[in-house]
Amino acid sequence: MRINLALIFSIIIAIGIVAFGFTFFQISSERSKLSSELETRTTGVVEKVLENESLFYARINSASAGHFMDSIANKYNLLGILVYFNSDSIISNNFSDNLAGLSTKYIFQAIASESSLGNFITVDGKSVYLFIKPRKSDDISVSAIVFYTDAEYIEKIIKSIWFRNFIRWFIQAFFVSLVTILVIRWGIFNPIKKIVNWAKAVRTGSSELIKQQPQGKFLSPLRKEIEYIAKVMYEAKANAEEEARLRTNAEAIWTSERLKAEMKNLLHDKKIIVVSNREPYMHIREGKIIRCIVPASGMITALEPILKACGGLWIASGTGDADKESVDKNDKVQVPPDEPKYTLIRLWQTKEEEDHFYYGFSNEGLWPLCHIAHTRPVFRKEDWHYYRIVNEKFAKAVLNETADEEKPYILIQDYHFALLPELIRKEKPNAKIAIFWHIPWPNPESFGICPWEREILTGLLGADLVGFHTQYHCNHFLDTVNNALESRVSWENFSVKRGGRTTFIKPFPISIAFTLRDMDNDVKRITPDQLLNEYGIVAQNIGIGVDRIDYTKGLAEKFLAIERFFEKNPSYIGKFTFVQIGAPSRTLIKSYSDVVSLIENEANRINWRFKSKNWKAILLLKRHHSHEEITPFYSAAEFCMVTSLHDGMNLVAKEFVASRNNNDGALILSRFAGASHELHGAIIVNPYDIERMADAIKLALEMTPEEKCQRMKQMRQVVLTQNIYSWAATLLKTLISIT
Ligand code: F6P
Repeated sequence: MRINLALIFSIIIAIGIVAFGFTFFQISSERSKLSSELETRTTGVVEKVLENESLFYARINSASAGHFMDSIANKYNLLGILVYFNSDSIISNNFSDNLAGLSTKYIFQAIASESSLGNFITVDGKSVYLFIKPRKSDDISVSAIVFYTDAEYIEKIIKSIWFRNFIRWFIQAFFVSLVTILVIRWGIFNPIKKIVNWAKAVRTGSSELIKQQPQGKFLSPLRKEIEYIAKVMYEAKANAEEEARLRTNAEAIWTSERLKAEMKNLLHDKKIIVVSNREPYMHIREGKIIRCIVPASGMITALEPILKACGGLWIASGTGDADKESVDKNDKVQVPPDEPKYTLIRLWQTKEEEDHFYYGFSNEGLWPLCHIAHTRPVFRKEDWHYYRIVNEKFAKAVLNETADEEKPYILIQDYHFALLPELIRKEKPNAKIAIFWHIPWPNPESFGICPWEREILTGLLGADLVGFHTQYHCNHFLDTVNNALESRVSWENFSVKRGGRTTFIKPFPISIAFTLRDMDNDVKRITPDQLLNEYGIVAQNIGIGVDRIDYTKGLAEKFLAIERFFEKNPSYIGKFTFVQIGAPSRTLIKSYSDVVSLIENEANRINWRFKSKNWKAILLLKRHHSHEEITPFYSAAEFCMVTSLHDGMNLVAKEFVASRNNNDGALILSRFAGASHELHGAIIVNPYDIERMADAIKLALEMTPEEKCQRMKQMRQVVLTQNIYSWAATLLKTLISIT
């Protein structure tokens, strides 16, 4: 109210000052215009009256002079005439009888200057214009003639201008004030009121309320800030509740908070350094705008929550086309963009490095070498050369960042950096180094075909700890070392001793960020219709597959199984659709672009075969999808199908399980994915056995809700108790315990 009054008062004063200024200007110009008109008019009258001067003076000198002057005044609409001879001799008419005193000053001025003079005087409170014509002639003794004209009308006009402008000012001030009050009320007070109510509701309510934010662009920065604060508060509250629940249940479930506290204790505020080739956030250009995306990678799904919980540094290759524009002068950027928790350092690769290190040695050599998926590895000398160069580049970056630490903790990710542990070890003998191999490790005979087998093993053994997803892969690795290197392999504690140093080889089945809090989350269920509508498909049920398009994922086998399922169960035609989300990956490599064409052709062929109006057997969505885009498909599907021909772990299987908060839905899982060692509630399949996979689809669709619930509960319990925080805690504790 006080703000309103002050504002209105200010508006009235401001408009008043402007109006007064304009009126003042208008009045002075109006006054001078009217005065000059009066002067011109009076001069004209004087000329007419004195047209016949001798007659005029004759009449003046006659006995009827007063009468004569009255008649002239009447004729020319004058108030009066005064003829001045000298101070003792003045002839005047009725009106001018008493005006000689008021006029003499001007008469003298006119006589002295020998020119006509006009001026305004006030007679009985009224404005009168006097015009004096001096006269110098020998024959007539008259000195000056004064003509009096009514000038009161000028004052009246001026007064009316003042009055009109005052009314105008009043109306303007009234309307401007009114509009201002309405704008303030509707445009400012109401949105603020809504935001305040929303903030109150959010403070006391659930995270769902955070999403129901008041609309409108105005105040949106404030809304964003409140949203962020509310989110942080809600998370803190949920964490506290979760911790309390854990204490009550005496359970040992890891959470981000627990990991953070534990790491603070163990690392004594030292930061963790993660190194990987793929970066957790990629800036890409879309038209004129720059978007920040999370690339499709199980490794990122797993590692990101750890850095979010503990902070630290992540060193990775910058490969987004707008990455360079998004870093500071040290090539660093704080991420996640909305809520920075750790630092990402981007290293840049030349075209040759990318061609030979990433596409060549890593993905045409090591990737097919480690995945038994019937794609021959290719080993080229130049690829190996650049593999070493890029490993050296990353080693240099790690050493730079840890220059003032004698014993930094370094977590290296994956097959792109087999040489990195040894390169860092040479310069920093006391560093604590772990490398986690996210893909399978094949048997020694298979690995032995790599021409640089010994160099790769030596590089890896520079670490204190080499981690795999399963014990099976650890055993293969130990066998490979045993076969290829002079070393002492211990099968008792799964270690390799070489050159006085010991490296431990341990399994750490990787997982996702899933805690008791997520277990209870009320996930909104979307129907297949809602999801399929935009693709013009109508189906009662859907199945879902989410993969990078890679020949190891068994996508063609999956599609053949779907085809066989429809052959065997035609009643599902028109009722069931399989949705395959496929993120294109490494498409510059021929074997990868071949898979893209293969699965597109297969999907088209199968869809054509079972063609029906408004329905498709397979909906292939071939593009990168964000986690938020994938979640509704997970929750709407009857089952998820993972058919990897060989896979380290496969986190899609775990993500699907985590999304099923009603303990429904089924998981069809390849026995060649690491996840099959943990998720016993899944329908385990051999992806090469098309017939059984078709049956597994039928089983997934027709399984009783009770059985689905029982299986899903088992799997969710596994994902909960062995989540990514427990993975990180176990791995880091193992690393720290190595002396
Ligand atoms: O999980 C194995 C892995 O190679 C990761 O290292 C990688 O980020 C992911 O698959 C996706 O592959 P890319 O980074 O080559 O797209």
